[in-house]
Amino acid sequence: MDSIIIQSGPTLNGKVRVSGAKNSSLPLLFSTLLAPGAHKFSNVPELKDITSTAELLKSLNCGFSQKGNDVEVLVEDAKNPEAHYDLVRKMRASVLSLGPLLARYGFARVSLPGGCAIGARPINLHLEAMEKMGATIKIVDGYVEAKADKLKGTVISFDGVTVTGTENVMMAAVLAEGETVLENAAKEPEVLDLANYLIKMGAKIQGAGSSIIKITGVNALKPSTHKVMADRIEAGTLLIAGAITGGEVEVVGIEPVLIAALTQKMSECGFKFSIQKDSIKVHALSKWHGADVTTAPYPDFATDLQAQYMALMTVAHGTSIISETVFENRFMHVTELMRLGADITPKTKIAVVRGRPGGLVGAPVMATDLRASASLVLAGLVAKGETKVSRIYHLDRGYEKLEEKLSSLGAKIRRVN
Ligand code: EPZ
Repeated sequence: MDSIIIQSGPTLNGKVRVSGAKNSSLPLLFSTLLAPGAHKFSNVPELKDITSTAELLKSLNCGFSQKGNDVEVLVEDAKNPEAHYDLVRKMRASVLSLGPLLARYGFARVSLPGGCAIGARPINLHLEAMEKMGATIKIVDGYVEAKADKLKGTVISFDGVTVTGTENVMMAAVLAEGETVLENAAKEPEVLDLANYLIKMGAKIQGAGSSIIKITGVNALKPSTHKVMADRIEAGTLLIAGAITGGEVEVVGIEPVLIAALTQKMSECGFKFSIQKDSIKVHALSKWHGADVTTAPYPDFATDLQAQYMALMTVAHGTSIISETVFENRFMHVTELMRLGADITPKTKIAVVRGRPGGLVGAPVMATDLRASASLVLAGLVAKGETKVSRIYHLDRGYEKLEEKLSSLGAKIRRVN
């Protein structure tokens, strides 16, 4: 199992380009199941989750090739529209195959994803919506078995904001009969990126990116081509890497508005930014103070940046209160940060972080989930001496060549197995 070793000390400086978004690539790749033929994508990051998605698509009789960041998916008719447990348990986003398979074949058998480190991750909102569209859904041997001769458009009001729930139901609705209206839909930019590709394939969608999405079903869709949007979570992670070391780092290839909640919060801590059309630069600052944050659906502060922001707060001047409102167990990084000397008091939904400038000391720590592993790498950049982050297969799920990017900015970081 690989680990990453970081020697603290260097201030990170320079420019770094963001990769394509993991959380846009995944729904985009699953949307290909809606239309037979060759789909072409660019700016697809090279990640383990993409490899997992490729395996699942191949099991559904698709061809899949990735050369660098270019991907081609060749969709043929699936003999058996089933997403097997062995594949789904590796990546819960595989549940995004349910909507497309049900819409295209009128039947789908998708393993329940099971929970993960950050929470139970139920998919009740996905299933209730599809039932409202006329599907019969049964849970048999840990699998969702969904049947629908023809899904029918209707008004669906989500009880809670769900990103992949919105994406799954939007993909089910594009081939349904009549109009589907999604209320309380997720407004994440990745939902809009998916809708833009579905529209290129011939879907009729209005309002994606807002909380009301209208989809008018069509008879068939055609494959197209698409460039995956930039990864806003990676962009935020790289900005914090520069900030936490007191350096000046420019993240290129990202629309600043996509991480406005983070840069606004870091401004409250004292950081200054230079904003261009497709880049953000954080300016060097040797002393910043704590600022409270509460995670919430887009456009508010992203839960996927909470762990990384907490690392920044562990060495701030003053105390910050970090509230996690999206997932019920997304403080797994807290105990590992405490092993590095961070002064954190975790409670159920909040963590109180008492900043200790210069107070972190390197130690072996263990990654538990994707964003927690990023948080430990960030803390390792400033924890005196050497920090070894183990189980970084978590990191490899969502960050493309992170250690190369950080090294290019001056970090002393290397992978060992
Ligand atoms: C997506 O997960 C992202 N994953 C997550 O990123 C991200 O943290 C999350 O959205 C929130 O922004 C992908 O896009 C592949 P949700 P998703 O459905 O869709 C509850 C990362 O690090 N809920 O918006 O699974 C759920 O338990 C990953 O890249 C239900 O109760 O998240 C959670 O508390 C981690 N029933 C809340 O809603 C449902 O049917 C938000 O979940 C669905 C969700």
